[in-house]
Order: sequence, then structure tokens, then C-alpha cells
Amino acid sequence: MDNRPIGVFDSGIGGLTVVEALANELPDESILYVGDTARVPYGNKSKDRIQEFSKQITKWLISRDCKVIVVACNTASSLALDFLRLNFNLPIIGVIIPGIQSAIETTRNKHIGVLGTVATIKSDAYGQSLKKISAAITVVSQSCPLFVPLVEEGLVLGHVPKSIAKNYLMTILNSKSDTVILGCTHYPLLKPVISSILGSDVNLVDSGEATSAMVKSLLKKNQSLADKNPGEIHCFVTDSPETFKALTGRFIKTEIYSIQHIDIT
Ligand code: DGL
Repeated sequence: MDNRPIGVFDSGIGGLTVVEALANELPDESILYVGDTARVPYGNKSKDRIQEFSKQITKWLISRDCKVIVVACNTASSLALDFLRLNFNLPIIGVIIPGIQSAIETTRNKHIGVLGTVATIKSDAYGQSLKKISAAITVVSQSCPLFVPLVEEGLVLGHVPKSIAKNYLMTILNSKSDTVILGCTHYPLLKPVISSILGSDVNLVDSGEATSAMVKSLLKKNQSLADKNPGEIHCFVTDSPETFKALTGRFIKTEIYSIQHIDIT
């Protein structure tokens, strides 16, 4: 048993979708969440910047005695996960491998689509990892840079997101993909719109859910599950806590105990 918190971080608020999945799967666990709201978005930044920011945040979470780190941000998972594992020696889990495993279990025809930020798609982290696990998989990737601002503006239904999504999803529609990985923290909130374009027989994989299952099995294996019943969620943001607080309801239904400002640099 280990009642130390799980550390989770993201470029901003979107990682709360992963926190929600973790809270559902592991209600006894306490979570410290860092949202780097002062420097969001990561999705259009360089690898060096993303690694530098991820290292600063991981260091901070370790200083708060976290037992495991979950990189909720797909962009940071794509570009900084190996780098973090080289620099720190506690378990660090990203969202890419859990999402891929779930997609491989789901696909029937071995054609998988991947949606993500510009940096995630450019890194080809999903494509390369999918190929490593199964060379028989065909991958079609598409960046959707306007999806993050749409979700942050609360524009997740109606003709505006639908026409933007139609544009982005053309390449996926023209492929044989029967499974599509939502490779960004924000995209699960656009599931209804994406599904209305791709059709209900295309499975959408939410990396957050797959990741929480992986965290649970790791904690079980290490005999480090908590028994706090219920655990508490505390958020730390690098920009205004008030702005963050106003948006949390869009991303998470579970109660957040506190939201504080931190200076990570
Ligand atoms: N959290 C990022 C991700 O999952 C999306 C927002 C950003 O670009 O920073 O890739």
C-alpha cells in the first residue's frame, strides 16, 4: 500500500480528461495535476521546448513526493517520454502505448487512423509504435490544430465544429480505418462530432481510459495502490487559477479539492 499521490501533467487543462479516467478507475488514489497553462499550447512547439517544460514539471511533481508520473499530454508523451525516463528513475507512463494497445485490440481490419496536434503527428510517435507492435497495421495520421481551440471555446456541437472536422477527417474517411485514436487530450470532447462524420461503425479510442487501466495494473503489480477512500484531486497551474477553474466543468465531473498557482521555472 502506498498513499503517496499520482502526479499527472499536461500542457493545460485538457489532461483533466485523463484525470477523470484515473479517478473513475482508481477512486482511492490522490492526484496532483499540473497544467502548464502559461505555456499552452505545446502542440505547435519544438521538441527541445517540450522536453524542457516536461522536465521542469516532472521535477516539481517528484519534489511533491509523487509515486508515479502520468504524462497526460499526447504531445509531451510523443516528444519527451523517453527523455524523461532517462532523466528520472520513477515509473513514468505516457498515453501513446496504452492508446495503441487499445486500438490494436479493437481493429478488425488492421487499418488505424490517428488524430493529434501538429507536433504529435509530425513526430510520428503513434505510427512508429504501432508498426513496432504489428508491421501488418496500416496507419493514416492527421493533425487537427483547430480542435483544441474549439474545445476550449466550448464549441463541441453544431455546424462550426462539424464543418472543420469534415475537412480534417477527409483523409481518414478515404482510408479503410475502422479504428481511430483520439491522440490529444481535448479530442474526446469532440467524440459526437467525429463519430457523426466517420460513422458509428468506426471505433474511437480514448487514450485516457486506456492509460488509467495501465496505471492501475502497474500500481497493483508494485503493490502500491492507495486506500484513502476517496483520494483527493489537487490542481496546480502556471497561469490564472480562476481562468482554469471556469473551464474545469467541461473536462471533469469529479470534484477538484483545490486549484493553486505555481511558478514552475
Ligand atoms: N495537451 C495537448 C495534447 O494532448 C493538446 C494541447 C496543446 O497543444 O498543448 O497533445
